[in-house]
Amino acid sequence: EKGGFDTFMEKEIFDQPDAVRDTLLGRTDSEGRLALDEIRISEDELKNIDRITIVACGTAAYAGMVAKYALEHWTRIPVEVALAHEFRYCDPIVSERTLVVSISQSGETMDTLMAVKHARDLGANTLSICNTHGATIPRESDAVLYTHAGPEIAVASTKAFLAQITACYVLGLYLAQLRGGTYADDAKKVMAELQEMPAKIDELLGHLDRVREIARFMADTRSVLFLGRNVGYPIAMEGALKLKELAYIHAEGFAAGELKHGPIALIDAGQPVFIVVPGPDTPHGLHGKVVSNIQEIRARGARTLVIAEEGDEAVVPFADEVIRIPKSAPLLAPLLAIVPLQVFSLELSTAKGLDVDQPRNLAKSVTVE
Ligand code: BG6
Repeated sequence: EKGGFDTFMEKEIFDQPDAVRDTLLGRTDSEGRLALDEIRISEDELKNIDRITIVACGTAAYAGMVAKYALEHWTRIPVEVALAHEFRYCDPIVSERTLVVSISQSGETMDTLMAVKHARDLGANTLSICNTHGATIPRESDAVLYTHAGPEIAVASTKAFLAQITACYVLGLYLAQLRGGTYADDAKKVMAELQEMPAKIDELLGHLDRVREIARFMADTRSVLFLGRNVGYPIAMEGALKLKELAYIHAEGFAAGELKHGPIALIDAGQPVFIVVPGPDTPHGLHGKVVSNIQEIRARGARTLVIAEEGDEAVVPFADEVIRIPKSAPLLAPLLAIVPLQVFSLELSTAKGLDVDQPRNLAKSVTVE
C-alpha cells in the first residue's frame, strides 16, 4: 500500500503530480466552462460576491494564503484568510454577499466546522474545499469543490496541500469566468498553464537527490529559517511547519521584506536559511528584492539554501546551495517550490530516526475544539 516507498509520506509526495492532475480533471463542461461539484449557490449569487473569507487550520490555512494572492489578482474580489479558531470568536464581518471558503483535507476538523457553521448562521454563502467525500464540513456547506488527492495517510500533509492550492486556483478561475470580459479571457490562459503543472512537478521529483543529501548532513541542526515573498511567503511558512512536525526542529517562516524589521537579528554564522525566490518574471521587481535579501543574510554568515527557477543565474553568487525548480507562471510556482521543502523535512526526519508518518503529539484530524 506504500507503493514500494518506505513511508506513506514519501509515497504521497510522489503522488503529487496525480493529485494536481486529478483535481483539475473534469472541471470543465462541454463548452469549456469551469464547474463546481455540488452547488446550492446560484450563479447570480456568486456574481454578487463582494468579499471572500477563507477559513482553515494548519497546512490548509497556508493553501488559503497562497489562494489569496491568486484570487485577488484574477478576480479583484478582496480575500481575507483567517485561522478557523480565530475567525469563530473575533466577531467576523460577513454578509449575504460574503463567500466563506473552508479548506480541510479531512472535512472533520472541529475548528473549521465551527467556523463554517458560524458563517452560515451569519448569512454567508459557504463553500467547502475538501478531500473526503461526504465528510461533515462539505455536508454543512452550500457548495463543494472536492480535491482529488486520494486518501492521505501520513499525518503531515503533502499531496492534500497541492490539491488544495489547485482547487483554490480552479475556484478563482471559475469566479473570474463568471465576471466575464478580460477576466474570463485571462482565466482561460491561466487554466492552460495550470494544466502543465503536473508534468513539471513530475520532472522536479526526479531531481531532488541534492536536497536529500543536504538534509542528511543537517541532522544536528537546531534551527532553520525560511524566507519567501508574495506566494512564496506562505510556502516559507509551510516549509517551516513541515520541519517542526516531522523533525522537531525549531523553524520559522518569514516574509522576506520583513527581514530588516527584526528577524535579521537572528542571523549569525552558519544559520541555515531557505529562501524561496520568485521567478525573474514576477511583477514589481520582487525577484531582485529577494536576491538582495540573500546577499544581506549571506554577508552576516547565513548558510543560504536557495530555491530558484532553472536559468536564474542571479542567485548563484550568494547561494551556498541552489535547488532548481522548473519555470512556471509566478502565481502557480507554489505547486513546485514546496516540493523540495517537503523532501528536506522527510529526509531530515528519517536521518534522525523519527517516525515520519506519525510524528509525536500530532493527530491527522483534530475533532475537538
Ligand atoms: C492538523 C493536522 O491537526 O490539522 C495538519 O496535523 C492539518 O496536518 C490540519 O493541516 C488541518 O486539517 P484538515 O483535515 O482540516 O485539513
